[in-house]
Amino acid sequence: MNEAALDRTGPLRHEHQLINHQLNQLIEQISNLPKGKATSVAEVRKSILTLGPMLKSHFDNEEKGLYESLEASLGKDSPTEGLVGEHRAIYREFKQLVDILAKYEDEPTFLRHLKTSVNLLQKMMNEHIEKEEKVVFWIAQVKL
Ligand SMILES: [Fe+2]
Ligand SMILES: [Fe+2]
Repeated sequence: MNEAALDRTGPLRHEHQLINHQLNQLIEQISNLPKGKATSVAEVRKSILTLGPMLKSHFDNEEKGLYESLEASLGKDSPTEGLVGEHRAIYREFKQLVDILAKYEDEPTFLRHLKTSVNLLQKMMNEHIEKEEKVVFWIAQVKL
């Protein structure tokens, strides 16, 4: 196993944990909203606005810090195909969440929309992370 590549994937794995933690916290806050005082919409908003820059910098770190090297060294055999597109799709879903927050706050459908969107975001993120940790990072550790 290549130490330099392991060093490169280590911080990315750590960022996955932080993003997962942030998403779980947000889901818990949303599920507490109907129970009244436990969580306020302001706290949900704060968590959503914290998540945005975390996603953006993580995707940037991967695209510039790892994907580019994999593509340069493996060419067509790089396992990164489609993953930048997934970053864009995940970020679009995140922006959807921000839109819901801005538009639906006083409507009865607000909570339902919020839950649907955050659950979809978590599902997309989990599937993406699984590909990276089980395939891409592993190949980077062996090949870079
Ligand atoms: Fe990624
Ligand atoms: Fe990632």
